[in-house]
Amino acid sequence: MVSKSASFCAAITVAAAAAASAGKGAIGDRKLSVEDLYVDQAPDHLRPYILEHYVDTRAVNVSSQIYRFAVTGLSSDNAFTLISTNAPRSDALGVLPHIHQRHYESFFNYKGRLQLWAQKDDGEHESRILTPGDYGSVVRNTTHTFQILDPDTELTGVIVPGGFEELFYTLGDNFTTETHTPYVPAPDLGLAGPNSDAIPALESFDVYAQFEFEPRRDLVNDAAPAGSIWHSGFNTLGEPGEPYFVANGYGPKALSSQFGYQVIQPLVTHEQAQDLDFTISTITINKKRSSVTTPEYILTGASAFQILEGLLSIEIGQYGTAVLSGGDVAFIPPRVSFKYWSNIVFTKVLYVGKGNDSLDKQLITAGESWEFATFPIY
Ligand SMILES: *[C@@H]1O[C@H](CO)[C@@H](O)[C@H](O)[C@H]1NC(C)=O
Ligand SMILES: *[C@@H]1O[C@H](CO)[C@@H](O)[C@H](O)[C@H]1NC(C)=O
Ligand SMILES: *[C@@H]1O[C@H](CO)[C@@H](O)[C@H](O)[C@H]1NC(C)=O
Ligand SMILES: *[C@@H]1O[C@H](CO)[C@@H](O)[C@H](O)[C@H]1NC(C)=O
Repeated sequence: MVSKSASFCAAITVAAAAAASAGKGAIGDRKLSVEDLYVDQAPDHLRPYILEHYVDTRAVNVSSQIYRFAVTGLSSDNAFTLISTNAPRSDALGVLPHIHQRHYESFFNYKGRLQLWAQKDDGEHESRILTPGDYGSVVRNTTHTFQILDPDTELTGVIVPGGFEELFYTLGDNFTTETHTPYVPAPDLGLAGPNSDAIPALESFDVYAQFEFEPRRDLVNDAAPAGSIWHSGFNTLGEPGEPYFVANGYGPKALSSQFGYQVIQPLVTHEQAQDLDFTISTITINKKRSSVTTPEYILTGASAFQILEGLLSIEIGQYGTAVLSGGDVAFIPPRVSFKYWSNIVFTKVLYVGKGNDSLDKQLITAGESWEFATFPIY
């Protein structure tokens, strides 16, 4: 494994050192400077990088919603797209109901509150209010829409395969802010639907409007249909090809004890992802003990970490150690080595992995089934 990666790492070393024309990360350094990992927008080619939360990156607004593109089709070689959306609370839907035929869209609530609706074919028309850490799985060919309900809401969207951001580049206006404010503090502009002339063009972006869909409003305990298990019991992951919801902490969990304690909560496994071959989990990491040797991973697919809570230490390829905090995203291309750990007692990340040896899958396979959202006591 190590020797296989060596030439690849060397290639990255040379490329990155060449890019660091200012002299940082000079050739011959054992490690590249960690600063060279930090970018201000998702790169247009595969390379390891870190994008800090709210960095003044390439962003667009669609109505009052601000879309920031942490992982793109270009930056991930089309593995997946990861987008953060911030917006004021709104009385209107965030988008007209629609379907994607080729893209599997995941809605993860980073903070605040939002409502999600989903219906596949003539299946159950479901809706949930998502609070932080809650997740909705919009598999292909599912009619869906959403609404932002609270003033400080941030949605993390993961779309597989990558490249879906092109839609927002087309629909949105470029947005930039030197204060790095999540969104423009102004009254909500409401639904800025593309007009009916523009709708057929959207099909080339894999967006099929569903004008007939009437989002239900009859929620009881933040869920519809009535009697849905939502923050009230165990949530199973969906059958392959069916949409589903997982409330934070209420889904299946695994405990990994091999390298210190980690609690893995899968949101999408290979079973749900089917041919799209990806996984999404949250991973809760206990403080690294000095007796533990942190393993190095070299995976066949791309990985991304978004920090949800705490501080994640990460070492990617030949770069020095980076410490990431809430909302920061680290992207690791296929076959680039990485190690991660926490120097504080509780760090939680959202992990996205492409390929059948993804990190969360490995941890779950080597771990044990676990009932709790926290790790055990010693
Ligand atoms: C972007 O926001 C501005 C106001 O800040 C608004 O006038 C414009 O219509 C928005 N763009 C889109 C595509 O909704
Ligand atoms: C989605 O629907 C389209 C059009 O009916 C179909 O061609 C495609 O196979 C469906 N995709 C999946 C994953 O079922
Ligand atoms: C928006 O930003 C993109 C990327 O920086 C740029 O290519 C494009 O020309 C900009 N569009 C406008 C209308 O300024
Ligand atoms: C993983 O994927 C590779 C390549 O797609 C395939 O050859 C291999 O059989 C897969 N392994 C498992 C365990 O599914």
